[in-house]
Amino acid sequence: MNKSLRKAVIAGNWKMNKTPAETKPFIEELKPLVADADCDVVICVPFVDLQAALEATEGSNIKVGAENCYWEKSGAFSGEVSADMLASMGVPYVVIGHSERRAYFGETDETVNKRVRGAIDSGLTVILCVGEVLEQREQGITEEIVGMQTKVALGGVSKEELDKVIIAYEPVWAIGTGKTATPDQAQEVNHYIRTVIADLYDEEAAQAITIQYGGSMNDKNADELVSKEDVDGGLIGGASLVAEKFSAIVKAASNG
Ligand code: 13P
Repeated sequence: MNKSLRKAVIAGNWKMNKTPAETKPFIEELKPLVADADCDVVICVPFVDLQAALEATEGSNIKVGAENCYWEKSGAFSGEVSADMLASMGVPYVVIGHSERRAYFGETDETVNKRVRGAIDSGLTVILCVGEVLEQREQGITEEIVGMQTKVALGGVSKEELDKVIIAYEPVWAIGTGKTATPDQAQEVNHYIRTVIADLYDEEAAQAITIQYGGSMNDKNADELVSKEDVDGGLIGGASLVAEKFSAIVKAASNG
Protein backbone atom coordinates (compact mmCIF):
# COMPACT_ATOMS: atom_id res chain seq x y z
CA MET A 1 0.00 0.00 0.00
CA ASN A 2 1.22 3.51 -0.62
CA LYS A 3 0.00 7.09 -0.47
CA SER A 4 -2.33 6.70 -3.41
CA LEU A 5 -4.23 4.00 -1.54
CA ARG A 6 -4.58 5.96 1.71
CA LYS A 7 -7.48 8.32 2.05
CA ALA A 8 -6.33 11.86 2.71
CA VAL A 9 -8.30 13.67 5.40
CA ILE A 10 -8.60 17.43 5.59
CA ALA A 11 -9.96 18.38 8.99
CA GLY A 12 -10.73 21.83 10.28
CA ASN A 13 -10.21 22.56 13.97
CA TRP A 14 -12.22 25.63 14.78
CA LYS A 15 -10.75 25.80 18.32
CA MET A 16 -12.78 28.30 20.42
CA ASN A 17 -14.33 30.09 17.44
CA LYS A 18 -17.81 30.52 15.95
CA THR A 19 -21.18 30.42 17.71
CA PRO A 20 -24.04 28.04 16.84
CA ALA A 21 -25.66 30.90 14.91
CA GLU A 22 -22.49 31.36 12.85
CA THR A 23 -22.10 27.63 12.23
CA LYS A 24 -25.02 27.10 9.83
CA PRO A 25 -24.24 29.89 7.32
CA PHE A 26 -20.57 28.92 7.31
CA ILE A 27 -21.40 25.31 6.46
CA GLU A 28 -23.92 26.38 3.81
CA GLU A 29 -21.13 28.38 2.19
CA LEU A 30 -18.65 25.51 2.49
CA LYS A 31 -20.84 22.69 1.19
CA PRO A 32 -20.83 23.50 -2.53
CA LEU A 33 -17.12 24.38 -2.41
CA VAL A 34 -16.12 20.91 -1.23
CA ALA A 35 -18.93 18.82 -2.75
CA ASP A 36 -16.65 17.10 -5.27
CA ALA A 37 -13.72 16.55 -2.89
CA ASP A 38 -11.63 13.47 -3.46
CA CYS A 39 -10.58 13.32 0.18
CA ASP A 40 -12.43 13.11 3.49
CA VAL A 41 -13.60 16.48 4.81
CA VAL A 42 -14.13 16.97 8.54
CA ILE A 43 -14.87 20.04 10.63
CA CYS A 44 -14.15 19.83 14.35
CA VAL A 45 -16.15 22.41 16.25
CA PRO A 46 -16.84 23.54 19.83
CA PHE A 47 -19.29 21.32 21.75
CA VAL A 48 -22.02 23.96 21.61
CA ASP A 49 -21.81 24.06 17.79
CA LEU A 50 -22.08 20.30 17.25
CA GLN A 51 -25.85 20.10 16.86
CA ALA A 52 -25.96 22.96 14.37
CA ALA A 53 -23.03 21.43 12.46
CA LEU A 54 -24.66 17.99 12.32
CA GLU A 55 -27.90 19.47 11.01
CA ALA A 56 -26.23 21.72 8.46
CA THR A 57 -23.95 18.98 7.08
CA GLU A 58 -26.69 16.34 6.79
CA GLY A 59 -26.67 14.74 3.35
CA SER A 60 -23.32 16.33 2.45
CA ASN A 61 -19.79 14.92 2.33
CA ILE A 62 -18.71 17.02 5.33
CA LYS A 63 -18.27 15.07 8.56
CA VAL A 64 -18.37 16.61 12.03
CA GLY A 65 -15.98 16.21 14.95
CA ALA A 66 -15.55 17.46 18.49
CA GLU A 67 -12.33 18.95 19.80
CA ASN A 68 -11.97 16.82 22.93
CA CYS A 69 -13.81 14.28 25.07
CA TYR A 70 -13.56 12.65 28.48
CA TRP A 71 -12.92 8.95 28.97
CA GLU A 72 -15.56 8.11 31.59
CA LYS A 73 -19.03 7.47 30.20
CA SER A 74 -20.87 9.59 32.79
CA GLY A 75 -20.54 10.76 36.37
CA ALA A 76 -19.38 13.60 38.58
CA PHE A 77 -16.98 15.28 36.14
CA SER A 78 -18.30 18.84 35.90
CA GLY A 79 -17.58 20.52 32.63
CA GLU A 80 -16.54 17.38 30.77
CA VAL A 81 -18.29 15.74 27.80
CA SER A 82 -17.99 12.00 27.33
CA ALA A 83 -17.22 10.12 24.14
CA ASP A 84 -20.51 8.28 24.63
CA MET A 85 -22.38 11.58 24.65
CA LEU A 86 -20.74 12.56 21.36
CA ALA A 87 -21.49 9.18 19.83
CA SER A 88 -25.12 9.42 20.95
CA MET A 89 -25.44 12.69 19.02
CA GLY A 90 -24.06 11.06 15.90
CA VAL A 91 -20.68 12.80 16.02
CA PRO A 92 -18.16 10.55 14.25
CA TYR A 93 -14.79 12.27 14.93
CA VAL A 94 -12.95 13.75 17.89
CA VAL A 95 -9.60 15.52 18.21
CA ILE A 96 -7.57 14.21 21.14
CA GLY A 97 -4.34 15.53 22.64
CA HIS A 98 -4.16 18.86 20.85
CA SER A 99 -1.11 20.80 21.99
CA GLU A 100 -3.38 23.53 23.36
CA ARG A 101 -5.01 20.93 25.63
CA ARG A 102 -1.58 19.76 26.67
CA ALA A 103 -0.20 23.27 27.26
CA TYR A 104 -3.19 25.01 28.90
CA PHE A 105 -5.34 22.25 30.38
CA GLY A 106 -2.89 19.83 31.89
CA GLU A 107 -3.24 17.01 29.38
CA THR A 108 -0.48 14.43 29.61
CA ASP A 109 0.39 11.48 27.41
CA GLU A 110 -1.42 9.31 29.97
CA THR A 111 -4.68 11.29 29.90
CA VAL A 112 -4.43 11.47 26.12
CA ASN A 113 -4.21 7.67 26.10
CA LYS A 114 -7.29 7.37 28.32
CA ARG A 115 -9.23 9.71 26.04
CA VAL A 116 -8.13 7.81 22.94
CA ARG A 117 -9.24 4.56 24.58
CA GLY A 118 -12.59 6.00 25.66
CA ALA A 119 -13.25 7.51 22.24
CA ILE A 120 -12.48 4.27 20.39
CA ASP A 121 -14.64 2.31 22.85
CA SER A 122 -17.53 4.64 21.99
CA GLY A 123 -17.01 4.09 18.27
CA LEU A 124 -15.52 7.49 17.48
CA THR A 125 -12.66 8.08 15.06
CA VAL A 126 -9.82 9.83 16.84
CA ILE A 127 -7.61 12.54 15.40
CA LEU A 128 -4.62 12.13 17.70
CA CYS A 129 -2.30 15.15 17.84
CA VAL A 130 1.40 14.85 18.50
CA GLY A 131 4.22 17.35 18.07
CA GLU A 132 7.31 18.87 19.58
CA VAL A 133 7.85 22.38 20.95
CA LEU A 134 10.57 24.60 19.51
CA GLU A 135 13.10 23.88 22.29
CA GLN A 136 12.75 20.16 21.67
CA ARG A 137 13.32 20.59 17.93
CA GLU A 138 16.38 22.71 18.66
CA GLN A 139 17.67 20.07 21.06
CA GLY A 140 17.34 17.47 18.29
CA ILE A 141 14.81 15.35 20.18
CA THR A 142 11.79 15.75 17.89
CA GLU A 143 11.68 12.05 17.05
CA GLU A 144 12.00 10.98 20.68
CA ILE A 145 9.16 13.31 21.74
CA VAL A 146 6.82 12.49 18.89
CA GLY A 147 7.64 8.78 19.15
CA MET A 148 6.88 8.74 22.88
CA GLN A 149 3.65 10.70 22.48
CA THR A 150 2.51 8.28 19.78
CA LYS A 151 3.44 5.15 21.70
CA VAL A 152 1.86 6.21 24.99
CA ALA A 153 -1.30 7.52 23.32
CA LEU A 154 -1.82 4.23 21.48
CA GLY A 155 -1.21 2.01 24.52
CA GLY A 156 -3.84 -0.74 24.56
CA VAL A 157 -5.07 0.07 21.04
CA SER A 158 -5.13 -3.03 18.83
CA LYS A 159 -4.16 -3.18 15.16
CA GLU A 160 -7.82 -3.69 14.24
CA GLU A 161 -8.75 -0.54 16.15
CA LEU A 162 -6.19 1.54 14.27
CA ASP A 163 -8.70 2.13 11.48
CA LYS A 164 -10.37 4.41 14.03
CA VAL A 165 -7.20 6.46 14.45
CA ILE A 166 -5.80 9.33 12.41
CA ILE A 167 -2.55 10.87 13.59
CA ALA A 168 -1.93 14.59 13.15
CA TYR A 169 1.68 15.72 13.38
CA GLU A 170 1.47 19.28 14.63
CA PRO A 171 4.78 20.89 15.51
CA VAL A 172 3.81 23.28 18.29
CA TRP A 173 6.08 26.03 16.95
CA ALA A 174 4.11 26.03 13.70
CA ILE A 175 0.64 26.35 15.23
CA GLY A 176 -0.95 29.75 14.79
CA THR A 177 2.43 31.31 14.12
CA GLY A 178 2.39 31.51 10.32
CA LYS A 179 5.66 29.57 10.52
CA THR A 180 4.82 26.38 8.65
CA ALA A 181 7.10 23.38 8.75
CA THR A 182 8.75 22.97 5.37
CA PRO A 183 7.32 20.14 3.28
CA ASP A 184 10.56 18.22 3.93
CA GLN A 185 10.29 18.72 7.70
CA ALA A 186 6.67 17.54 7.65
CA GLN A 187 7.59 14.55 5.49
CA GLU A 188 10.52 13.62 7.73
CA VAL A 189 8.47 13.49 10.93
CA ASN A 190 5.37 11.96 9.33
CA HIS A 191 7.60 9.24 7.90
CA TYR A 192 9.15 8.72 11.32
CA ILE A 193 5.69 8.34 12.88
CA ARG A 194 4.93 5.69 10.27
CA THR A 195 8.03 3.76 11.34
CA VAL A 196 6.83 3.98 14.95
CA ILE A 197 3.51 2.45 13.88
CA ALA A 198 5.41 -0.28 12.00
CA ASP A 199 7.37 -1.03 15.21
CA LEU A 200 4.26 -1.04 17.39
CA TYR A 201 2.11 -3.03 14.96
CA ASP A 202 3.41 -3.99 11.54
CA GLU A 203 4.18 -2.60 8.10
CA GLU A 204 0.63 -3.13 6.88
CA ALA A 205 -0.73 -1.00 9.73
CA ALA A 206 1.92 1.64 9.10
CA GLN A 207 1.05 1.91 5.43
CA ALA A 208 -2.68 2.06 6.09
CA ILE A 209 -2.81 4.77 8.76
CA THR A 210 -3.61 8.35 7.80
CA ILE A 211 -0.99 10.80 9.10
CA GLN A 212 -1.84 14.47 8.68
CA TYR A 213 0.28 17.56 9.05
CA GLY A 214 -0.98 20.58 10.98
CA GLY A 215 0.49 23.99 11.75
CA SER A 216 -0.16 27.12 9.70
CA MET A 217 -1.31 25.05 6.74
CA ASN A 218 -3.19 27.32 4.36
CA ASP A 219 -4.43 27.71 0.80
CA LYS A 220 -0.95 28.81 -0.32
CA ASN A 221 1.24 26.07 1.14
CA ALA A 222 -1.14 23.07 1.21
CA ASP A 223 -0.28 21.86 -2.29
CA GLU A 224 3.36 21.25 -1.51
CA LEU A 225 2.73 19.77 1.93
CA VAL A 226 0.08 17.26 0.88
CA SER A 227 2.09 16.15 -2.15
CA LYS A 228 4.64 14.58 0.20
CA GLU A 229 4.56 10.80 0.35
CA ASP A 230 3.77 10.52 4.06
CA VAL A 231 1.52 13.58 4.44
CA ASP A 232 -2.07 12.34 4.15
CA GLY A 233 -3.91 15.63 4.45
CA GLY A 234 -3.98 18.20 7.20
CA LEU A 235 -5.46 19.50 10.43
CA ILE A 236 -6.23 23.13 9.83
CA GLY A 237 -6.79 25.85 12.44
CA GLY A 238 -7.03 29.46 11.29
CA ALA A 239 -7.62 28.73 7.61
CA SER A 240 -10.53 26.40 8.46
CA LEU A 241 -12.52 29.43 9.63
CA VAL A 242 -12.67 30.84 6.10
CA ALA A 243 -14.68 28.70 3.66
CA GLU A 244 -12.71 29.73 0.58
CA LYS A 245 -9.35 29.01 2.18
CA PHE A 246 -10.46 25.73 3.70
CA SER A 247 -11.98 24.53 0.43
CA ALA A 248 -8.77 25.42 -1.42
CA ILE A 249 -6.89 23.12 0.95
CA VAL A 250 -9.47 20.39 0.30
CA LYS A 251 -8.85 20.84 -3.42
CA ALA A 252 -5.08 20.58 -2.91
CA ALA A 253 -5.53 17.31 -1.03
CA SER A 254 -7.92 16.01 -3.70
CA ASN A 255 -5.19 16.55 -6.29
CA GLY A 256 -2.27 15.48 -4.09
P1 13P B 1 -3.21 26.80 12.62
O1 13P B 1 -3.59 26.20 11.30
O2 13P B 1 -4.03 27.99 12.99
O3 13P B 1 -1.74 27.01 12.74
O4 13P B 1 -3.60 25.69 13.71
C1 13P B 1 -3.20 24.40 13.51
C2 13P B 1 -3.85 23.56 14.54
O5 13P B 1 -3.55 23.65 15.71
C3 13P B 1 -4.91 22.64 14.10
O6 13P B 1 -5.28 21.79 15.13
